[in-house]
Amino acid sequence: MVGATLQTPLTAKLGCRYPIIQTAMGWVATPELVAASCNAGAFGFLACATSRPEQADADIRKVKELTDRPFGVNFLMEQPGAAEIAASIVRHGAAAASYSRSPRRDFIDQFKAAGILCVPTVGAARHAEKAVELGADIIVAQGGEGGGHTGIVPTSLLLPQVVAAVDVPVVGAGGFHSGQGLIAALAYGAVGIAMGTRFLLSKESPVPAATAKRYFAASVMDVPVTTQVDGLPQRVVRNELVGELEASSSAGLLLRALRSALEYRKLSGASVGELMRAAFSMQQSDKLTRAQTIMAANAPILIRRAMVEGVPAEGVLPSGQVAGLIEDQPTCEELVLRIMQEAEEALGRLCGR
Ligand SMILES: Cc1cc2nc3c(=O)[nH]c(=O)nc-3n(C[C@H](O)[C@H](O)[C@H](O)COP(=O)(O)O)c2cc1C
Repeated sequence: MVGATLQTPLTAKLGCRYPIIQTAMGWVATPELVAASCNAGAFGFLACATSRPEQADADIRKVKELTDRPFGVNFLMEQPGAAEIAASIVRHGAAAASYSRSPRRDFIDQFKAAGILCVPTVGAARHAEKAVELGADIIVAQGGEGGGHTGIVPTSLLLPQVVAAVDVPVVGAGGFHSGQGLIAALAYGAVGIAMGTRFLLSKESPVPAATAKRYFAASVMDVPVTTQVDGLPQRVVRNELVGELEASSSAGLLLRALRSALEYRKLSGASVGELMRAAFSMQQSDKLTRAQTIMAANAPILIRRAMVEGVPAEGVLPSGQVAGLIEDQPTCEELVLRIMQEAEEALGRLCGR
């Protein structure tokens, strides 16, 4: 079996065949993508940070229909309906929960009591230590080259730092796409790799062709970090909208943020009270400024424009710099097997086999 020699504490803990995680991506990590990655031997995380509770529940059920492999669920512990989503994760017996910003001890305790592994993503060693104190079972350390909201420390520096800082298994994220990368991560002391952008560009990804084309066209230099989407550093493919946001006045940004907030309210079905509570609690636990809180709805709405509606010029395209190295669109199975094959070959070369 390909990859038989590459069993790690990650495969043992998560119950997947290979030490590869398909990370959650809002609007992208759908039940179909998650099931395809799990069936291919990786471990998939369903994206629920942009879902209302009924949708999250239906999506979790759908994953279970499409695969009998273990899978995880990602959500924001401060989003409207977070408690219902946490309850669905427990009720349906997901194997793991993933989260990043604003972890809440009550949800984490609930997961641990149900035997659900807590797998937060962090971008700094001190956040990893804090996450372990709060109960993390596995840490995903995402370097600055990673897609979506991201930190500034590159994977090559963050990974060894986090491995040294915590005593739970660590998974490397940010910039991975190949078996050579998997071996490099293992050499740093990680137990596997987590990939977003690489799975976004797989056959089972729901991303419309016009949007995928922008990712394929991007070089590593075309995937900058901007704070103009929601006030937090976010790595995205440069496009017309990013140029417009970067050139906008504060009044222009405020107007767009208000439009997004209205649209988000319609889409989420959340009441104004619920949204205000979520915004307030995010502001408190993530220490957001008022401007960042007001801009919070921009990300889900503008990402949806590109990822669901297929209008890349008017939406946000979160991406890792690794988009600049990706040229093909394999199925999840082809991708996972190729990575494992490359990993074994790389290992063989290093061992003089
Ligand atoms: C389109 C897109 C959407 C994302 N959405 C989420 C999300 O909803 N929740 C989350 O925790 N991380 C999200 N991320 C971050 C990824 O889960 C992952 O950590 C990152 O993509 C890893 O870097 P890579 O793209 O270089 O593989 C997103 C990333 C991308 C590219």
